[in-house]
Amino acid sequence: MNLTTSQQSMLRGDHGPAVQKSMQILAALGKIYGAKEMVPVTSVQVSGVSYDNLGDAGLEFLSALAGGGGQARVRATLNPAGMDVQNWPAMGISEDFARAQQRVIAAFTRMGIEATCTCTPYLAGNLPQAGDHIAWAESSAVCYANSVLGARTNREGGPSALAAALTGFTPSCGFHLDENRRPGVTIEVRARLDDTHHFGALGLVVGRRIESLARKPVAFFTGLDHPGLENLKSLCASIATYGGAAMFHMQGVTPEAGSFDPPAERWLIEQYDLDQALRQLDAASSDEVDFVSLGCPHLSIDEIARLAALLQGRRVNKTFWITTSRPVRQEADRLGFSQVITAAGAIFAVDTCCVVAPIAGRFHAMATDSAKACYYAAAKNRFKTRLLSFDEVVQEALR
Ligand code: F3S
Repeated sequence: MNLTTSQQSMLRGDHGPAVQKSMQILAALGKIYGAKEMVPVTSVQVSGVSYDNLGDAGLEFLSALAGGGGQARVRATLNPAGMDVQNWPAMGISEDFARAQQRVIAAFTRMGIEATCTCTPYLAGNLPQAGDHIAWAESSAVCYANSVLGARTNREGGPSALAAALTGFTPSCGFHLDENRRPGVTIEVRARLDDTHHFGALGLVVGRRIESLARKPVAFFTGLDHPGLENLKSLCASIATYGGAAMFHMQGVTPEAGSFDPPAERWLIEQYDLDQALRQLDAASSDEVDFVSLGCPHLSIDEIARLAALLQGRRVNKTFWITTSRPVRQEADRLGFSQVITAAGAIFAVDTCCVVAPIAGRFHAMATDSAKACYYAAAKNRFKTRLLSFDEVVQEALR
């Protein structure tokens, strides 16, 4: 791999042990993936923030990097943590967990990483432009960055994204290169897609087909007319979860989509496919649901406005978490939505989500509009799930 003089100097340790370790990680990854060089990045999003996933070993690794003088060279934000960093007692988080989580976040902030803990950095000020090379780690955000924003990122791990932040570089391979962004299969959708849960079901159907193939083609969606930000983030989260997809093209959405003809291989997705996926994730009865959550990926301000309208003057009867980023919560405060939502008894779980918070065993069944949240609710927390439309989820909380 060809390293510039300044990259070699990082590797020698001239910029301190944290930068040296970071460049070692990146050079090793570059070698594995056959990168010829490094590419400068303009934005980073670091995962591996929840103490529930990191544990003490992860905390020690971060503390060592922070102690080794690591400082972010580009704008870098964090993925959700294991709790609302301000309102954690309302979430039922233990003091021990909260203390450890605060130490994780302190290690990141010491390195100049912004403690904006969100999987939708693009809604919280970390918004790359088309063509920018970036290093993001959260799978739904990676897919959104490549497919909707037209930025270029691989699906980084926590350490490699952090290494990119501390050096300003990432190996030039995978989705940084034109040849790997070419679409390989046309997805023709002939089904009704009205709401976020439908787009999540679509992501499941297409994702599973991609996952079943060795060559993992980049999908090229046709026939979807400007689905809107919220539907796109739901689709990105789902196709990344069920198919490991870091990118798709969509006519009228993906900045590069116009440069390609739809691939000759076509997959037809029909109503039957979607209905089957919806049924599969809607596997609990209303009576069983004791936990309701909206905000996977984190809610936009428009979704919070919709929620406030549905909860105005009402009172929820189940534990109902609203997960979003702190900047969006602050906007919701300013516009008066937060007051309506909390008056109804719903709980803001800012900086975190129903997947990364330590809630395994606390609930029996969860209602959500997110196909991704259903996957992890079952796999990580052993909850039954109900996949419903956004409005139906709110009705479930009011029931
Ligand atoms: Fe975000 Fe948590 Fe879902 S990180 S995409 S809300 S699983």
